[in-house]
Amino acid sequence: MDLMEAIKGRRSIRKYKSDPVPEEIFRAVMEAVRWSPSWANTQCWEVVAVRDPGVKSELATVLPKENPALPSMTDAPLVLVLCGKKGISGSYKGQTVTVKGDWLMFDTGIAMQSLCLAAHALGLGTVVVGMFDHKKAEKILGVPQDVEVVAMTPLGYPATGGSTPKRKDLSEFVFTDRYSKKG
Ligand SMILES: Cc1cc2nc3c(=O)[nH]c(=O)nc-3n(C[C@H](O)[C@H](O)[C@H](O)COP(=O)(O)O)c2cc1C
Repeated sequence: MDLMEAIKGRRSIRKYKSDPVPEEIFRAVMEAVRWSPSWANTQCWEVVAVRDPGVKSELATVLPKENPALPSMTDAPLVLVLCGKKGISGSYKGQTVTVKGDWLMFDTGIAMQSLCLAAHALGLGTVVVGMFDHKKAEKILGVPQDVEVVAMTPLGYPATGGSTPKRKDLSEFVFTDRYSKKG
């Protein structure tokens, strides 16, 4: 699949078939995470692949009822929980070197986009899930203190396509030479 086609065609998928994801496809999606860029190649990401229906159901309880991704947490055959190791990204010799502090959110965000695009190119659906009780998720999964849960996504074959939310025009966010609302 052409890269721009993948970027533009990927949609958040919230309805899934129960068909399992073959191991080689799962590994191909993980390869996309593996080859993502990261701060000084620190690769702070870790992924918990949840297949056990009991654990998926437990994880679903951390989403508020109004989260539209809630049914997909149990419908999809797999839920991928993207975690980040703290205090690595954004640091040099153990000290944070920018005002941004830990770049964990940034690096895991890139990794998540790689994951979603690769999944889409392989015919699978994803939806980034960020609105949930992170502390509760960490407890359920047994995540250690030096690691935090950042976001999750179901992974599986789409039962229906996603709608296409509108995007801003380039003129609304691309500025020339200096920051300017006029572009
Ligand atoms: C950081 C982040 C958090 C998100 N959290 C949720 C969520 O909790 N529930 C949900 O249904 N969608 C969530 N989304 C999906 C967005 O709603 C979706 O990407 C956006 O509406 C654009 O639609 P598209 O992905 O189909 O292009 C999240 C997306 C991002 C990037």
